[in-house]
Amino acid sequence: MAKKKLKIGVLFGGKSAEHEVSINSAKNIIKALDKKKYQVFPIKIKKTGQFNFSSVKKVDVIFPVLHGPFGEDGSIQGLLKLSEVPFVGAGVLGSAVGMDKDVMKRLLREAGIPIGKFITLRDFQQTDFGIIKRKLGLPLFIKPANMGSSVGVSKVRNEEEFIKAIKEAFKFDTKIIIEEFIDGREVECAVLGNDTPLASIPGEIIANQEFYSYNAKYIDEGYVVEIPAKIPKNISEKVQELAIKTFQTLNCEGLGRVDSFVKKNGEIFVNEINTIPGFTDISMYPKLWDASGIKQSKLLDRLIELAVERFEKEQKLKTTVS
Ligand SMILES: Nc1ncnc2c1ncn2[C@@H]1O[C@H](COP(=O)(O)OP(=O)(O)O)[C@@H](O)[C@H]1O
Ligand SMILES: [Mg+2]
Repeated sequence: MAKKKLKIGVLFGGKSAEHEVSINSAKNIIKALDKKKYQVFPIKIKKTGQFNFSSVKKVDVIFPVLHGPFGEDGSIQGLLKLSEVPFVGAGVLGSAVGMDKDVMKRLLREAGIPIGKFITLRDFQQTDFGIIKRKLGLPLFIKPANMGSSVGVSKVRNEEEFIKAIKEAFKFDTKIIIEEFIDGREVECAVLGNDTPLASIPGEIIANQEFYSYNAKYIDEGYVVEIPAKIPKNISEKVQELAIKTFQTLNCEGLGRVDSFVKKNGEIFVNEINTIPGFTDISMYPKLWDASGIKQSKLLDRLIELAVERFEKEQKLKTTVS
């Protein structure tokens, strides 16, 4: 008798500036899931946030393919946890701290992971270009604390751009971060696992615009990808080591893509983690694993397995004190 197929709910869309990106990632995942093993149920979350919640209870595992606030920040993970359905990727805490660039960077700093200097600003606080310039130098990067896909991110060289960039970032969040510019190559590393995560070979993003902006990412194809990244072996190993340490420090599970800057002198600075990285057929996360010897459908099998493992482990925890 054929083995019963596992029902996988692919949750996508969502109330986020990255709604469209999510649709493309979900399409790819739905296509790549092995139909001999899985029965796939696409569950779309509208831009208003509405979705058919009863669909969630009908499946064996949920695969959240949502980027940005509400999807990647622990909100939906909390709902799934309460629903007692296994789901792919980081739980509530890992999702929340991985999404918030301010909290993320403070945790990384505390763990001794090299990161650039930054200042956090809330919407009720005043700021002064002169003071920031003295502390962080020029140019600066200004971004919403909770966002992705370079939405609301600006590179700033003078006071006029500074004021504009702050306004822009505050459109997306009530908290923003101002960072020193790091002059380095952008190297990305995919991480996979729960308790003993593995790191893929690193790849490089070479943006042919001012920086790896939203336009470069999705509109103009303003970048090229180099896999493996053309960096010396010892640097590549260090990038992998830092990627795993970042993943663990931030309480992540399942998957994550850790993005770093590698300076000319070999110094590495971790920029961020993405707990639900882009997953289209040209996205870095699946491509890095493919280049590391794990084909996409096997990668999805493993992510589903990890979701079930984590769920079963948590189910064993005592919830009473008798
Ligand atoms: N401190 C920095 N120094 C140099 N470039 C930066 C810095 N911060 C961001 N960038 C550029 O902006 C892009 C988007 O910033 P990032 O922090 O990755 O935000 P997002 O979460 O939106 O991807 C990066 O890929 C990089 O090209
Ligand atoms: Mg990024």
